[in-house]
Amino acid sequence: MAEVIIVEDQDAAGALVADTIVQLLRSTPQPVLGLATGSTPLSTYRALAQRIRDESIDVRHVRGFALDEYVGLPAGHPESYRSVITREVVEPLGLDPSLVHVPNGDAATIDTAGEEYEAAILAAGGVDLQILGLGRTGHIGFNEPGSSLASLTRVKTLTEATRSDNARFFDSPDDVPMHCITQGIGTILRARHLVLLAFGERKARAVAAALEGPLSAMQPGSAIQLHPHATVVVDEAAASELALADYYRHAWANRMAWQQP
Ligand code: GLP
Repeated sequence: MAEVIIVEDQDAAGALVADTIVQLLRSTPQPVLGLATGSTPLSTYRALAQRIRDESIDVRHVRGFALDEYVGLPAGHPESYRSVITREVVEPLGLDPSLVHVPNGDAATIDTAGEEYEAAILAAGGVDLQILGLGRTGHIGFNEPGSSLASLTRVKTLTEATRSDNARFFDSPDDVPMHCITQGIGTILRARHLVLLAFGERKARAVAAALEGPLSAMQPGSAIQLHPHATVVVDEAAASELALADYYRHAWANRMAWQQP
């Protein structure tokens, strides 16, 4: 079972996850981070940027792989995940941009982009710690319901629910691309440590389905049940539909001294 940690708010989650990442950066010569976009990981990136600055942590060898990208946005579009990752992760953390990869959403070369991305992750030795958000539809990365639990990086068609959730970032809902390229669920499961974050009541149902529902392609987040080292950090609102919430609180309050998130 994943370690489930229920925290007061997003800042508490950010501080906790940043601490886990700092330990990784200090203990691994060439750490590989799996990076998520969306609003959910922002408090983690903020807290991590602060720790890196305050403690002068060496990030020269940190490599990164984003989960996903839209297909067909013009290069440099501010809402492409390449731009978002540059703005929200690479710059604030001071990472070397040449070591941070985002799937190539160029429509002209999309048929080979998935395979190339998988090869790049393998060449880097795999992802040490993968940060994950959870979509309202239960998706991780852009693996919408129905995605194979063994899938690798490939093109997917976005659901209309996800397009409308993401319309807030675009001038008009019609501007949200129809297609994306995303790490598959099989790709995500290869990371050595998964850290899934979710906040707010609108995520409560997807959180409960992912953690306590049946393992199913209909709930891509439920794939974390297969992972031997998964940490889930949620606020009270996102935890509100968890049947075992009291048990998770009890287990975390009584964790053994050696237990790290
Ligand atoms: C997008 C991203 C996901 C992210 C999800 C949730 O669809 N592709 O990786 O987890 O949105 O977004 P938010 O964190 O803004 O709720």
